[in-house]
Amino acid sequence: MRSFAGRDILSLKDFERSEFFHVFEVAAQMEPIARSRRNVDLLKEKTLVTAFYQPSTRTRLAHEAAMHRLGGHVVGFADVKTTRAGDFYQESIKDTVKMLEFYGDVIVMRHYQQGAPHEAAKWASIPVINGGDGWGEHPTQILTDLYTVYREKGRIDGLKWLAVGDMRMRTMHSLAYALTQFDCPITFVSPPEMSLTEEFKAELRQYSLNFRAAEHVEQAIADADVILVEPVVQPDYTKARDERTGEVGLTPPNYKITRELLETKAKSDAILLHSLPRMDEIPTDVDITRWSRYWQEAFNGVVMRMALLALVLGAME
Ligand code: CP
Repeated sequence: MRSFAGRDILSLKDFERSEFFHVFEVAAQMEPIARSRRNVDLLKEKTLVTAFYQPSTRTRLAHEAAMHRLGGHVVGFADVKTTRAGDFYQESIKDTVKMLEFYGDVIVMRHYQQGAPHEAAKWASIPVINGGDGWGEHPTQILTDLYTVYREKGRIDGLKWLAVGDMRMRTMHSLAYALTQFDCPITFVSPPEMSLTEEFKAELRQYSLNFRAAEHVEQAIADADVILVEPVVQPDYTKARDERTGEVGLTPPNYKITRELLETKAKSDAILLHSLPRMDEIPTDVDITRWSRYWQEAFNGVVMRMALLALVLGAME
């Protein structure tokens, strides 16, 4: 297995099966620290730079919380408009990153342009973590989700997945790449205009992913061990910021996971994931049911970022 020290985390297409399990092992070692709300000194000599060109609640703050839990330091920006990349100068990723690499030891970047963290990694002499790039990928979120499944179910192989939402979404791309390394059939349910592209499907076939598409969650939910949901009512991920200007639509029943649907059709031990934020695709009365695991997912978001930071900074082997 390749060492994680000094490595960029840009895509789950780069991940080998053994690397997933190694990251889960390190995360399990980090979990007691987060659970007991302690801060330790594992990364006390290190600084994280957060470069967020697009809004975020979870990804930025989970990375920052993870760094604090491990005794490290954090600098960064959460709004591109406060930087020279967001004003008259429109400073390039290269020029920005050639500064940021002297301000810390690892960069986590979210950007509205697909491939921006890859461009940053080309110029940075320190590791770059992709915190979500346009419609591209969101590797740390899906590592969090897989770890949640692993903790909840005790395994990944042999579980049947149902993914519901906008298949252009970066999480869906990382999920599909990740599941190529496991024995996990998956059914995708999305509006036709948000379905997987032919190009992406061809790529998944090359990796032997066992996948199919369905039109309505009712056609696939009964078989699913893991149900992963994303909104179909959502902003344009290729913009730095997409304000809500008026009424937004409601989620059609085809892409909605209701309490009634879970009670009447889902396996009693299936688990329901949502990386959040949500619209109305999972009504709040689902929160307190035996299926929901999105709050565990939120906790694991910190745990997984602790593991990744410790690994890429060489504090854990
Ligand atoms: N799940 C996720 O990426 O959330 P944020 O956009 O709040 O970071």
